[in-house]
Amino acid sequence: MSYRNAALPVAERVADLLTRMTIDEKIFQLFQTFITDENREEVKQQIRATGLGSRILAASNLAGNMMLRMAELDDLNEIQRIAVEESRLGIPILHGRDVIHGHRTVFPIPLAMAATFDPAAMEEAFRIAAQEARAAGVHWSFAPMMDIARDPRWGRIIEGFGEDPYLGARMAEAAVYGFQGDHNEDGYWPSDRILACAKHYVGYGAAEGGRDYNTAEISDHTLRNIYLPPFKAAVRAGVGSVMSAFHDLNGESASGSRYLLTDILRGEFGFDGFVVSDWGSVDDLIHHRVAADERDAARIAFDAGVDMEMVSLCYIHHLAELIQAGEISHQQLDDACGRVLAAKFSLGLFENPYVERPNPVNLQMPAENLQASRRTAARGMVLLENNGLLPLSKETRRIAVIGPYADQRRAMLGSWVNDGLTDETATLVEAMCAACPQAEILTAPIGLYDEMLMAAAGADVVILAVGESNARNGENNHVAVLHLPAGQDELVRAVGKIGKPTVLVVFSGRPLVLTDLVGSVDAVLWAWHPGSAGAYAAADVLFGDINPGGKLPVSFPRAGGQIPVHYNANSTGKGGSDYLDLPGKPLYPFGFGLSYTTFEISDLRLSQDQFKAGETVNVSVQVQNSGQRAGDEIVQCYIQDCVSHLTRPVRELKGFRRVTLQPGESRRVEFALGPDELSYYGPSGKWLLEPGVFKVWLGNDSRAALEGSFTVTP
Ligand code: BGC
Repeated sequence: MSYRNAALPVAERVADLLTRMTIDEKIFQLFQTFITDENREEVKQQIRATGLGSRILAASNLAGNMMLRMAELDDLNEIQRIAVEESRLGIPILHGRDVIHGHRTVFPIPLAMAATFDPAAMEEAFRIAAQEARAAGVHWSFAPMMDIARDPRWGRIIEGFGEDPYLGARMAEAAVYGFQGDHNEDGYWPSDRILACAKHYVGYGAAEGGRDYNTAEISDHTLRNIYLPPFKAAVRAGVGSVMSAFHDLNGESASGSRYLLTDILRGEFGFDGFVVSDWGSVDDLIHHRVAADERDAARIAFDAGVDMEMVSLCYIHHLAELIQAGEISHQQLDDACGRVLAAKFSLGLFENPYVERPNPVNLQMPAENLQASRRTAARGMVLLENNGLLPLSKETRRIAVIGPYADQRRAMLGSWVNDGLTDETATLVEAMCAACPQAEILTAPIGLYDEMLMAAAGADVVILAVGESNARNGENNHVAVLHLPAGQDELVRAVGKIGKPTVLVVFSGRPLVLTDLVGSVDAVLWAWHPGSAGAYAAADVLFGDINPGGKLPVSFPRAGGQIPVHYNANSTGKGGSDYLDLPGKPLYPFGFGLSYTTFEISDLRLSQDQFKAGETVNVSVQVQNSGQRAGDEIVQCYIQDCVSHLTRPVRELKGFRRVTLQPGESRRVEFALGPDELSYYGPSGKWLLEPGVFKVWLGNDSRAALEGSFTVTP
């Protein structure tokens, strides 16, 4: 039984095991179910008879805001023991769970982590999440989510990395490395990590009107150049699984598209892991009306390339019959089953199927993990306005900390948190008291408008915490109006009228429209949903213990009617992007964020101004901290392919670097632009580099003005 021999490479063990399996046993490896009190005995019987591919540790597809506690350790082990000891071949079950931005220690929402422009911080966050989750018995997480989102009405914008394919790709690969680590030459991953899942493949973020689950229409050109790059990068980084999306794209169901799942994902990108459907998305083919019934749905999805079905029953009811009828081949079944088994071997499940005691979920969050979460939260906060009020002096005597999010715990964590504990999460009031114990912190109950105003009137400085709840974004939570929720705009204006120095701190999962509010306050700090230690991180930034350096990973519109308003729009014929009633530009552009110090970016140099396609040019600038405090700048490199066969963006991000500089310190920052950065998917979807002139801009947001150019010759 060589499949039991851990000294053999994964591929050999898979091949051996496949020869021993019946068709039913193979089909059940392609099924993921959840276990409730009602179906428990039935599932156990099934596992004894056929084994089971995977168990999802959730009981609803809307797990994002429900905080479903982990299955208890005894429960996980009991079910696993049945698979390992009582099923014929003893194949362990893969435990899947949505560990989206941290497990017990909650990190900021992924969009906030993208705002760090720091892939190392992203990798660290995902590594920590993997280690905590694995210790609690999770083997596989449905993350990272890498859907490009150009529409903040879509509530799931919080789960991804924003509007840009280059930033999205760098963050996607960092998250994959963090979760999985590197596998060895025999195909084994480190035993303290988990399997990553690149989702939702693909174009799910382009849902019409920002309404979740809706149709998306994306040209092949835009699909390849904008929506696919993070997935391509995740595959290159070795991601072990991919999730097919819920929606319909260009007339096909995303979970039934052979073009997307087989031709592109496997054929072009070379993906060799397995594809799992989203929750019931195989069955949804019937709702999309591209399948007549379950049998039809199973045939289409399986043939398209969905290996494992999440919770719906089309495969287990119909795959055997489809194989018998010759509509699905034995080879296809072996390939799909082999990919799932490979993941189980790679994770070491045959050797270590059980969770060890004590279950760390019931213990304290490790202090160093909480510290990492706090650091990352502060790194991702974006200072949008500051007339000099910030940083606050710790000598300030009376600070009012008011507003609907001054005293909130749950909203600090954000959506898609299953295992973080609300009562362990500090509020902003608590964090401000801790950061400045000698000050008098004036507070007021949330609902009592007049008392909030009285606290503001009695203070030297006002911290007004507004925003949106975690329940207002995430899955299936789209909004049509991007203003602060009811009553908050009025509150900001009323506090502004009191005339005390006021900082607006916004806790939110998506860009909101602040256009008419910024004039009422002295500073705006965008704090996102910052995680377990997020309130402390906000206090770190407000008092200047940490100098903010985050930048926007998505444009902030002036009004909802501007959407979509991403920076990388194509060049147009007649200019004319302004509206009659508003400028065409967003209020805050992609890549924007202020600091408590100032930076000068100058002296753009190119290593050559003409070179052959295939070679690389180095472009560099001098960055100097010209202010009084140490701080971080994120230097950004944008290009334009001046003439190309297909229309291209006005500018595209192709490099970024976060540097820390002491006052007066100066450093040269260099970017390499080679075939990867200069090519695009051109006519007929071909990856190509078109010789000609390219412009390059370096600066500290997407309006970067320092310009150079070079020519690529054939
Ligand atoms: C979501 C996925 C999630 C899955 C399992 C679905 O509703 O779209 O992102 O991983 O549920 O909870």
